[in-house]
Amino acid sequence: MLEFEAEKNCLAGKTILVTGAGAGIGKVAALKYAEYGATVILLGKTVKKLEATYDAIEQAGYPKPAIIPLDMKGATEQNYKDMADTIEQQFSKLDGLLHNASVLGVLGPFEHIDIDSLQDIMKVNVTSQVMMTKALLPVIRKAESASIAFTSSGVGRTGRAYWGPYAISKFATEGMMEVLADECDGTQVRVNSINPGATRTEMRAKAYPGEDPLTLKTPEDLMPTYLYVMADISVNVNGQKLNAQ
Ligand SMILES: NC(=O)c1ccc[n+]([C@@H]2O[C@H](COP(=O)([O-])OP(=O)(O)OC[C@H]3O[C@@H](n4cnc5c(N)ncnc54)[C@H](OP(=O)(O)O)[C@@H]3O)[C@@H](O)[C@H]2O)c1
Repeated sequence: MLEFEAEKNCLAGKTILVTGAGAGIGKVAALKYAEYGATVILLGKTVKKLEATYDAIEQAGYPKPAIIPLDMKGATEQNYKDMADTIEQQFSKLDGLLHNASVLGVLGPFEHIDIDSLQDIMKVNVTSQVMMTKALLPVIRKAESASIAFTSSGVGRTGRAYWGPYAISKFATEGMMEVLADECDGTQVRVNSINPGATRTEMRAKAYPGEDPLTLKTPEDLMPTYLYVMADISVNVNGQKLNAQ
């Protein structure tokens, strides 16, 4: 677990987009970024959940957030271009992009992998993230120093039996991070990945239905790493595979 104590307001003046901001780790990260002074753009599939995150930020008196409802399974390149234009018009720059939204799919033996389901998982976990990053790079480059963080997994670093499409997608995530980090080397944009580790969320409960959730770290426990990657203290950190636990 990273020993990092973020300075209060270390994200003041920054605009950070968090995908999957309506639940789990993404919700807590969005609230945390807002607590530390960022204006947060909340992107996700279920509007009600995004509104709950929005309300929590507003009630706490943090900077007013924005909501972008988007289903990353169906989204097109044009949707991402339009989104990037809106962000540029409203905020003029984007300092942080946390790619957090993902789907788990079904776990099972390799020979049972359903190809339609594999394609859906790759669309949300990989292709959509490529399209979103590609569309946002021009507005990201307008920030003095910007951070793009992808969310990986233990099974995106070492393959594990029965983790099928999800593990394949997380290896692709690490590859995407390395390619982009190398391209951004020496620029004001840094690109890294975070492996949250086993965390008490709906996704984890779906993967391990028999596990006692109280034995797991909470999303809140991971936040030192999530703050570190967005704060200027990590300005020279690029191409790293970080572990939040
Ligand atoms: N929890 C763990 O133990 C663990 C371990 C390793 C890695 N991770 C990674 O950490 C990240 C967060 O996981 P989590 O456990 O917090 O998961 P979660 O509780 O299942 O939350 C996932 C989030 O992604 C959003 N999302 C899913 N499909 C989407 C779509 N098509 N379009 C837009 N948003 C979509 C969900 O929105 P809706 O609720 O509206 O569907 C939700 O906000 C993921 O990348 C996951 O792979 C988690």
